[in-house]
Amino acid sequence: MGFWSDKSVAVAIGGGIAAYKTLELLRLLREEGARVVVIATEAALQFVTPLTLQALSGQPVRSNLFSPCEADGMDHIRLAQEVDWLVVAPATADILARMAGGHGDDLLTTVLLARRGPVLLAPAMNPAMWAHPATQRNVAQLQADGIALVGPEYGPVACGDHGQGRMAEAAHILEGGRRQLSPKPWQGRHVLITAGPTQEDLDPVRYLSNRSSGRMGWAVCQAALRAGAEVTLIHGPVALPVPRGANAIAVQSAQQMYDATMQVWENRAYHAPHLSAAILTAAVADFRPANRQMTKIKKGTAAAVIPPLTLVQNPDILATLAARANQMAQDGQSPPIVVGFAAETGTDADAAESVRVLAREKQARKGCDLLVVNNVLAPGCGFGSLTNQVTILHRSGHEETWPLLSKEEVGERLLDHLANLFV
Ligand code: CTP
Repeated sequence: MGFWSDKSVAVAIGGGIAAYKTLELLRLLREEGARVVVIATEAALQFVTPLTLQALSGQPVRSNLFSPCEADGMDHIRLAQEVDWLVVAPATADILARMAGGHGDDLLTTVLLARRGPVLLAPAMNPAMWAHPATQRNVAQLQADGIALVGPEYGPVACGDHGQGRMAEAAHILEGGRRQLSPKPWQGRHVLITAGPTQEDLDPVRYLSNRSSGRMGWAVCQAALRAGAEVTLIHGPVALPVPRGANAIAVQSAQQMYDATMQVWENRAYHAPHLSAAILTAAVADFRPANRQMTKIKKGTAAAVIPPLTLVQNPDILATLAARANQMAQDGQSPPIVVGFAAETGTDADAAESVRVLAREKQARKGCDLLVVNNVLAPGCGFGSLTNQVTILHRSGHEETWPLLSKEEVGERLLDHLANLFV
């Protein structure tokens, strides 16, 4: 069952051109299985029609405070109290002002006044309106009242201006809601995540690398952010946008990933909150060319000699962190939990068992607390796939094999699993 499938959501729409983007939010919410009710201001209905909103939400649109269909006239109180999540998109300058002033002069503001649960505002307006002291004063007041905002973003706006004022994209608003509603077992904890491949330069135009897409690390990062953690994400070259809220450090080579990781680890005591876990999902290149050429290696004449490729070993980040954590434990300190990932290849009849044996040996060699293992040749488990089937090996000998799940679900489960080790 997906996160939104048992949730009810009220989507409140203000009168701004960004209302067209809210249609995508409605579509995503319905696709994810949420029950959706739309509240639109009179002005919003100048931009999007009731018919469109009804078709996308599956319910008649509410816009009138004094709706004759509600016998007791208490519709707004019920709406405000019944839904799991209330999102205002777009939240116009006028809506922000009326909310900050505690107005209740239409259905939307009345619902907001009666609301006790989570509310997320997605402001959208002309950059000059957003920057206006009155708007900024209202935003500060709303934040002081405990109201969360997503956006507005920088970029071109509908009137042709450029600046901060664009409404956040629908997927970001949805993710904002998910973070608001998710339990927060990692609140007050810092987690270091490595992700993606590394690239080892041969010359200025060529490199050695691997097929890692970074998706597993991204899923772990997203799960950690949803669970309330502060996240430092050290990643190699990937084609994925950095999850919002992560402190991302982009690197290219294994040595750079090692250096960045050590720096975060060394500074863990000065960083608030302190590091609670290091989850190393990166597919770090084990070797790099011994001599990086400063100019392009040329094929030369027909009688060219094929240049030999001499490799040297890269530092092992996981083994280094695990050794440091183990030393801390011996010194009586409580170290961060160190988690490795192992992508193995098992093809024989008893692939699961041969992968498990390889992984146990790897865990002993690396000395980490937990190793998350998968067989990349198993169906649904390859590089770049959206799903994964993993076995969790604890140093204690405890093992768990999880079913084939989306990488997102594997990330969520792993963070829950680790959170239970803290209690
Ligand atoms: N790892 C690391 N630094 C390296 C190599 C690997 O931190 N130089 C980490 C990976 O991020 C992963 C774990 O070690 O969490 C296992 O990676 P893997 O490539 O399977 O381990 P190797 O020691 O390289 O073993 P193999 O010989 O199977 O490649």
